[in-house]
Order: sequence, then structure tokens, then C-alpha cells
Amino acid sequence: MKIAFRDLKSRPAASVVLLAKGERLQRKDTSFDATEKEFVSRAVNERLFVGGIGEVRRVLLPTGARSRSLILVGLGGKEAFNAESLRKAFGVLARQSNREEIGEVALTLRSPTVSRRMRKLGWEAAVRAAVEGWHLGTYSFDACKSGPRKKRQETRLVFQPEGIARADLASARRGARTGEAVASGVNFARDLSNTPANELYPATLAARARQMASRHGLTCRVMGVRELRRQKMGAILGVAQGSSRSPCLIVLEWNKGARGGAGARRQSTRARRVKTLALVGKAVTFDSGGISIKPARGMEDMKFDMAGGAAVLGALQALSVLKPRVHLVGIIPASENLINGSATRPGDVLRSASGKTIEVINTDAEGRLLLADALHYARRFRPDAVVDFATLTGACVVALGGKVSGMMSNDRTFCQQLMNASRTSGERIWELPLFEEAYDAVKSKVADLKNTGGRQAGAITAAAFLANFIEGIPWAHVDIAGTGWTDRTSGYHPCGATGVGVRLMTDLALSFENPGG
Ligand code: BES
Ligand code: MN
Ligand code: ZN
Repeated sequence: MKIAFRDLKSRPAASVVLLAKGERLQRKDTSFDATEKEFVSRAVNERLFVGGIGEVRRVLLPTGARSRSLILVGLGGKEAFNAESLRKAFGVLARQSNREEIGEVALTLRSPTVSRRMRKLGWEAAVRAAVEGWHLGTYSFDACKSGPRKKRQETRLVFQPEGIARADLASARRGARTGEAVASGVNFARDLSNTPANELYPATLAARARQMASRHGLTCRVMGVRELRRQKMGAILGVAQGSSRSPCLIVLEWNKGARGGAGARRQSTRARRVKTLALVGKAVTFDSGGISIKPARGMEDMKFDMAGGAAVLGALQALSVLKPRVHLVGIIPASENLINGSATRPGDVLRSASGKTIEVINTDAEGRLLLADALHYARRFRPDAVVDFATLTGACVVALGGKVSGMMSNDRTFCQQLMNASRTSGERIWELPLFEEAYDAVKSKVADLKNTGGRQAGAITAAAFLANFIEGIPWAHVDIAGTGWTDRTSGYHPCGATGVGVRLMTDLALSFENPGG
């Protein structure tokens, strides 16, 4: 455990001072002594520290002071302060403390600069955000580095609870537990995404899913090629046929007993039943584009094209720890998109499991093909709602950039619920319109549908294509093409896979609990 609640008897290696822009320690703040306050004032006066978000400065104290050093941590402008500020601040703090090999950093909760903010956000949400930031910020992927691993002692974060109301402390501890569960789900998703495609392909992804499921009490079924053929999943099979590695459909369930099976329909007429939420994630373990091949530059990043599937696995892991009263189904179509002699050609027509035929205009628009069969498969669980996560379109990256995911939905209520989960989890999404004309753009002359919608509104026409396979069920599609990975470390995201989607799905599932049922 790298995080604890404990009052320190001896002086810590470093005491954390959280400060917004232009803020100083208050004179009445008894958690810091005169020397500490003087050092903080001087650092601020000398502009050594301005309190910007992500700013972390360590100041050494004279021998004999209460702690050996202070770490000044910036929270940014006062008005903009929210849980995300804490997440970012603690991400940077954790990384820097590890780098400087500080054994233990302490945060005194009763300090007004801390407690005031915790009260404002609610202790549970605030501590959760800080803990998430801490664990996410120190993540690193070194499974592919050879040689003796540098053995660094990881810094411990100690929350000093002295002087805090009992109820607040209980909330804080709850927040810390949630934060730990969520962060380890995100880091699991990051591990999967960061793993290169020669090591992580459909079969090995399925093995990782099985392993997670058996450790966390979920059921996991992996449908191989024979089963995919039996289910007539011609869209998934069409994408995979250019690769010597077989595709699969990974299906996980949490709380399976709570609902589902033959009784599902009858039970669903009762008001207080356990709801079913299906989480679908695109897992193209490598996307070369197929015959419509991608340019060489940046193609290595296409190992991340399974980030949606990874996020579903991460969320299910986190949720299995948090145990909401919800029936969760995870559906992950996994395939490579490569080019051998039997690869799908532009102009080929695939027969999807829904019966709808699809003309393949561009073999690089493979994600929606996988999702077509996966979304159709989701229907059999009679879900109350379905959400899919996919690194689906470059167009979404052009439209929204790398800090916010695109979202499109066929249901206002579900869309609102997702927006709420976005707010509480801090994972930003922005709705793009899913209008009638977009459906026309993916109609084919030779088949029912075609897999591209022309040059304009690429993120939207992709969603319109998907909507054909989930008709009548509240559904949202989240395009994480821009947010699934980053090439610049910042805040709580070290470069590489971000694990985006895990937090959003987790909060969405928690909000799906049917109280009193
Ligand atoms: N995986 C890509 C989308 C992508 C591109 C994700 C860049 C992240 C960064 C997807 O399979 C794809 O190739 N989409 C095509 C669709 C087009 C052919 C209609 C695209 O966006 O170019
Ligand atoms: Mn593609
Ligand atoms: Zn792709």
C-alpha cells in the first residue's frame, strides 16, 4: 500500500503544502509552524513558486524544523479548482517524489488549505481524485525493458487525519478505496494498450481477460473462429481474414446471477430489478489499414487500436472491486487488421450477424465492422443501455483533439447519464450530433450499408453506421481515437496509453445502480 491514513509521530521526509495561485499559508493554520510558514512565504515572494496547476517545488528546511522539506504543490487559479485539479496535482507530486526518492510525504488534512477544499468537493470525491492522481501519475510501462530493473523505493503518501471529524475521515477513507480500485483498473488498461502487438494479439488479450476474470469473480467466455462462424459474424471474420492470427469475441459478465438468462424478460417488468449495462470495446490489436494501407509514419501507434477493449477490461476490474448492484456485460471483439493473400478487398461485401450486408469501401474502416457484430451480439443480453468505446476515427481527432473524447447517442436520457458520469469521473466527452443525413451517407448501392461515409463528418457517419446495429436500445458511442494515448507526459498521464474510458465507464455503471431493488 503506497497510501495510508496515519498520524506521524516522527517528522516526515516532506510535508505537502497545497496552494492555489497567489495563496499563502494562513497565520491561524496550526498544522505548520512559523519556520515552515516563513519558507512558504519566501518561496512565493521570490516567485520560486506561483501555484500553477501541475507546479511542484521542493523546499529544504533548516535542520531542527518539523519536517526535512516542504513540497509546494500548485492547484492553479482559485475559481477553476475542482477534482481534476487535485488529480493533476497529485499525479505530478507522486512522479516527482518518486524521482527524488522521498520515502514518505505527508498531507495534514486539517490544514485549512486542504480541509476547505475537501469540504467544497466532498471528502470522498476529493480524496478519490487525489488517490487516483497519485497512482495514475506514477504509472510506468517497463515490461519491454531488459536488464536489471532500477530498484527505486516508491514514495508513500500519508494523509494525517488528526483534527478531522470522524464522518469526514470515513468519507475520505471510502474515497481512497474507490480511488485505488479505479486507478488499478486504469493502469491495467494502460498495460494492455502499451503492450506491443507481437505480444498482445487476440489470443493473448483473451488470456489476459480470462486471468483478470478469474481473479475478480467475473465470468469470461471467449468465442473463437468456429463459434464466430456459427454466429454468422461475417463482419468480424472479414476484418480478421487478412491475418494469420485468429480473431475472437471476449464476453465477460459481472453479477450474472442477478439477472439474465431465461427469466430476464419477465423480471424486467418489475420496477426494482437489477439493471443490465453492456460495455463494448473495439480491440484491433494492430491496425495496418489492410489493403487500404496506412502511411508508415506513426503506424507503430496502431498497437493502441485496442484501447477501447482494454478500457472495458479495466472498468470491469475496477467495478468488480466496487461491487455495484448492476449486471454488467463486457463485449470485446478482437482482431488484427493486416494484409495477407486472403485479406478483404475494397468492394467485398460482408454479411454481418444482424443479417445486414456491408460493402467494404475502405479496409481501414475496420473498427465499425468489429463493432457491428459486437453491438448486435449485445442485444441478446437485453441491456437497459449499451455504450461502446473505440479508437474509431481520425476525423474525431481532427474535430476535438486529444483532451476530449467524441460522444454520439441515440437516447437523450442515456446521453445525459453519460455526461454526468463524465463530470464526476473527470473524463471529458463532447457530444457530436447524430442526425438523419448521416445515416444516408453510409447506405450502399450494392449492399445494405457501406463502411465509409465520405470525406465529411467522419466521426458522425461512423456512429451512424454503428447505430444500425443497436436500433431500439439506448446506446452511446465514445470515440477515443484522440484520447486513448498521448506522446507527452502531463498531469497524471505519463506518455503512452491513457486508459481513457475506465473512469467514465466505472462512474456510469455506479450510476446505474437501482437503489432499493
Ligand atoms: N484506428 C483507426 C482510427 C485512428 C486513426 C485512431 C488515428 C487513432 C488515430 C481506424 O480504424 C481508421 O483507420 N479509421 C479511418 C476510417 C476511414 C477510412 C473512414 C480513418 O479515420 O481514417
Ligand atoms: Mn483502421
Ligand atoms: Zn482501427
